[in-house]
Formats: sequence, structure tokens, C-alpha cells
Amino acid sequence: MYNVAIVGATGNVGKKFLEILEERNFPLENLYLFASKRSAGSKVTFKGKEIVIEDTIEENIKDKKIDFALFSAGGDVSLKFAPVFASYGATVIDNSSAFRMDKDVPLIVPEVNPEDIKWHKGIIANPNCSTIQAMVPLKALLSKYGIKRIVFSTYQAVSGAGKQGIDDLIEGNKGAEPKKFPYPIAGNCLPHIDVFLDNGYTKEEIKMIEETKKILHNNNLKITATAVRVPVLNSHSESINVELENPYEIEDIFKLFNETKGITVYDDLKELKYPTALMASGKDDVFVGRIRRDFSIANGLNLWVVSDNIRKGAALNAIQIAELLTGSDD
Ligand code: A2P
Repeated sequence: MYNVAIVGATGNVGKKFLEILEERNFPLENLYLFASKRSAGSKVTFKGKEIVIEDTIEENIKDKKIDFALFSAGGDVSLKFAPVFASYGATVIDNSSAFRMDKDVPLIVPEVNPEDIKWHKGIIANPNCSTIQAMVPLKALLSKYGIKRIVFSTYQAVSGAGKQGIDDLIEGNKGAEPKKFPYPIAGNCLPHIDVFLDNGYTKEEIKMIEETKKILHNNNLKITATAVRVPVLNSHSESINVELENPYEIEDIFKLFNETKGITVYDDLKELKYPTALMASGKDDVFVGRIRRDFSIANGLNLWVVSDNIRKGAALNAIQIAELLTGSDD
């Protein structure tokens, strides 16, 4: 049995950690909840018991013998406190981008690169939400056919921008001015997620490109991305255009995805079956549909990939990483 801490327990992803720990059979001894000073002292009910939220300070961390610390309180909190938790013996699973590209920190999607867990040194990074859902079908394609090039176009929900992102959509629908986004998200699409970089990409787009190479262990992949925030509450949708190295038959792609753990193929055009954000919300799997040949190039393939960005894209993936370490994964 393990002692688990959640850092950022009052946030969007933090609450989802609690929900998923309630649902799954995680071998939990004690659960400790941390947030900012603002929330310290407030109480949360977990499995019928009240847990008091604590301020994230070393004094509150050091004597708890924490085995796993699940972080989702932003990059600055991770940079400051992940090493503190690790120094007291915890394995940190960090949902921020702070450590993802650190060469000493594995970046893991359990269905894709579980072997990387072996070389962690106390901190493991959870990939970006839009990266995680893309990795599950792409790893299957890479293993069977090889991949030359990937074009990501994302349609990302406001829940990925935390409580403030959700408020901007809900209040914006009633006519309020945005507080989180630079323009209204209600009735709008913003090709702008995270900050702009000197090369004209956003940091979100570069995260998708670089994290994909790290997770798939392939620096030669050619990848480009456009990441767009859309007025959807939850679940990210992605158009993924892939150029495979080897020829394929479309029936074999359906078969491959049907056999891949973590994927639900949802693709029957006669029945108007294709994945949507509403149907994927609250589910664990990555939904793949609109599977079709890209006729404009040799070995081209188009996919529509939808997943709950707060579950598989964040909290669930982090808990699955902890389960890899406890051996309680199925
Ligand atoms: P709090 O509610 O006390 O501000 P979201 O991504 O949904 O906006 O949530 C952010 C999470 O990070 C919240 O749980 C928030 O706690 C937490 N947080 C913000 N700043 C700090 C901090 N300085 N130390 C610890 N937790 C923090």
C-alpha cells in the first residue's frame, strides 16, 4: 500500500486525480492533498472521509513518507517542489511541462513506452494532453509500418486551460469579456495555445513536435503542428495526417487499431459513427475514426483522434504511470 500526495488538488486536473483514484483499485494507504495557501484548511471528501488541504511547503511534506506525488499546479510549483518531494523519497509524476524535455526525466504514455520507467531518478513527466492521445495510434503505426512525417491539427477544449479557461467559455457565452484568453473563446477559434516563440510556432505546437520524438524514440521524424483552442468544454479532437514508410491496406489499419490497448475504433460512416468531444468525455480510451487514405501522397493516412484531455490527457495517464511502478496496472 502506498502514500500518495496530490499537488494542485483543488484544480481541474487535481479534482480528476481524486475522482480516478476513487474509481480505480489503486493500492492507497494515505492520501495527502496540497494546494496554495489560499485553499489551505478547506476540506475535500474522498471515499467518505474528509481530507484537509495543506499548503505546499516543505514543513508539510517532510514527515509524510510519500511514495507518489502527482503534480498539477503549474510549471513554477513543479520546478520548486518536485525536487523537494523527490528528496524525501517520493516519485513525482509531473503534469506540467517543466521537466518533460529534461534528458534525465522519462516522458511516458504507459501503452506506448512503459520501458522508459526503468531509468527515472525520482521525477517522471506526464506528456502534454494533445501529445498523449496522438501517441497511442501513432506508436501502433510506427511499429508496423514506420513513419516518415506527421501533420497535427488540433481542436482543443477549454478545460485544458484550467478553471479560468472553462470560466471564459461559460461566462463568455453570457456576454462577459475573456479573462484567460486574449480574445473571446465563445463562438470563436483561437490558433494560439501557450506562448508564441520566435520561430512563429506556439509553445504548445513545439511541445507536440518534441515530445512525440522523445516518446517514440525517433529524432528523425518529420513533424509539424497547428494547435487551436475551440469553444468546447472538454476533450481534445485532432486531425492527424501521417505519411507511413511502407504500403498498407486500410482494413489492416482498422485491425491494428482494434487490437491496440487503449484505442476504441469508432468509425462507421453508414451509421454516422465518428468520435466527438462529447462522446469521449468521461471515458478512458482514445477514440479513433475517419480512418482513410490520404490519396495525395504514397502511404498517406488520415485519422480523427479524440480523447478526454483531463482523463487520458492528464490525470488518468499520470495514475497509470504510478500503476506501472506499483505493478497494479492490468
Ligand atoms: P488553489 O486552488 O489553492 O489556487 P487549475 O489548473 O485548474 O487552474 O488549478 C491549479 C492548481 O494549482 C490549483 O489546485 C491551485 O491551488 C494550485 N496552485 C496554484 N498556485 C499554487 C502554489 N503556489 N502552490 C501550490 N499549489 C498551487
